[in-house]
Amino acid sequence: MATHKLLLVPGDGIGPEVMAEVKRLIAWMNEHGLGRFDTDEALVGGCCYDAHGVSIQEETMAKARAADAIIFGSVGGPKWDKVPYEQRPEAGLLRLRKELGMFANIRPAICYPALAESSSLKRDVVDGLDIIILRELTGGVYFGEPKTITDLGNGQKRAVDTQVYDTYEIERVARVGFELARKRRNKLTSMEKRNVMKTGVLWNEVVTALHAREFKDVELEHQLADAGGMQLVRWPKQFDVIVTDNLFGDMLSDVAAMLTGSLGMLPSASLGETDPKTRKRRALYEPVHGSAPDIAGKGAANPIAMIASFAMALRYSFGMGKEADLIDQAIAAALAKGLRTADIKSDGTTVVGTRDMGEAIIGEMARLAA
Ligand SMILES: NC(=O)c1ccc[n+]([C@@H]2O[C@H](COP(=O)([O-])OP(=O)(O)OC[C@H]3O[C@@H](n4cnc5c(N)ncnc54)[C@H](O)[C@@H]3O)[C@@H](O)[C@H]2O)c1
Repeated sequence: MATHKLLLVPGDGIGPEVMAEVKRLIAWMNEHGLGRFDTDEALVGGCCYDAHGVSIQEETMAKARAADAIIFGSVGGPKWDKVPYEQRPEAGLLRLRKELGMFANIRPAICYPALAESSSLKRDVVDGLDIIILRELTGGVYFGEPKTITDLGNGQKRAVDTQVYDTYEIERVARVGFELARKRRNKLTSMEKRNVMKTGVLWNEVVTALHAREFKDVELEHQLADAGGMQLVRWPKQFDVIVTDNLFGDMLSDVAAMLTGSLGMLPSASLGETDPKTRKRRALYEPVHGSAPDIAGKGAANPIAMIASFAMALRYSFGMGKEADLIDQAIAAALAKGLRTADIKSDGTTVVGTRDMGEAIIGEMARLAA
């Protein structure tokens, strides 16, 4: 059995609380021969600023480059509102994503049957939902130049953002999309605005050509991003994997998030290129939620998004699909027993804290694995 090197970055607020449950799970898996993980830990975010005056240290960057996967909690909080902009807690996370070239952001939206009532949509629309939004993460309008605000001198200002994509940027994220779809229900929906944007025209062209060249066995569909947004709330189960650019992906993945009920339930993965020599791919796994300062320190945070992010690491970095399935089934089983953290509670359920939920999930894993 291969040993996997993990860099654990708990971060701020509820980050360390939910990470504690992943550590418990890793220790349990190591002990029971379900995996072999070697872990190291680092400070990033506000906690790192307090200790070292920066949001991330060079030695942490080196550790991140050497790790097989980074498991990240969450950073930020009002305590650091006034620190210099370059050292704000989020800067540490953004530097990790950027310097490690994490261009593909995978956000699954899964609605566990036990939680279908927590969604703002009708039960039959979301019950059993299992889709992925794949967002391009390092290009597009958030990074394109020029990016300026100019004073026009007549009492007016002009703001410019630039949406820019090169062929290779579209192709590499689309390839991740086709590969993901192949391992699932074999359907990829590409979303852009080719009717009004040149980047949409190129996006469509590149995805279509890649499909014809390498992925004819996968069903490819194109939707305009605005119509796609509407379809996402009308009948989300029509999708399997959706691939889209940075801006549309930002919005569509937040819409998809609400289909599932709570922020505390949503994991994510950010992937970089595969190294041709080692065949390893840079990867960072983190819950979608932030540091939740309002509930930090109370032991009330939902650890499921963090635990499910670790399950994604098993699936996408280590080829441990069976073990990842086991974790996902254990989460579903704990929920089916009526256990809930406060953010997902409903009538007739039992409210538990972070630690009890973590322990219950491990308990279900032990039961399912036996
Ligand atoms: N990737 C990251 O580290 C990341 C992402 C988003 C926000 N942030 C930062 O986090 C801080 C707080 O931001 P915010 O309040 O906008 O977003 P948030 O996700 O931290 O919290 C939003 C709401 O959801 C609840 N919530 C979030 N995660 C939960 C969980 N696991 N269990 C139970 N409830 C949960 C919170 O209590 C809060 O009411 C800010 O400093 C922000 O910049 C960090």
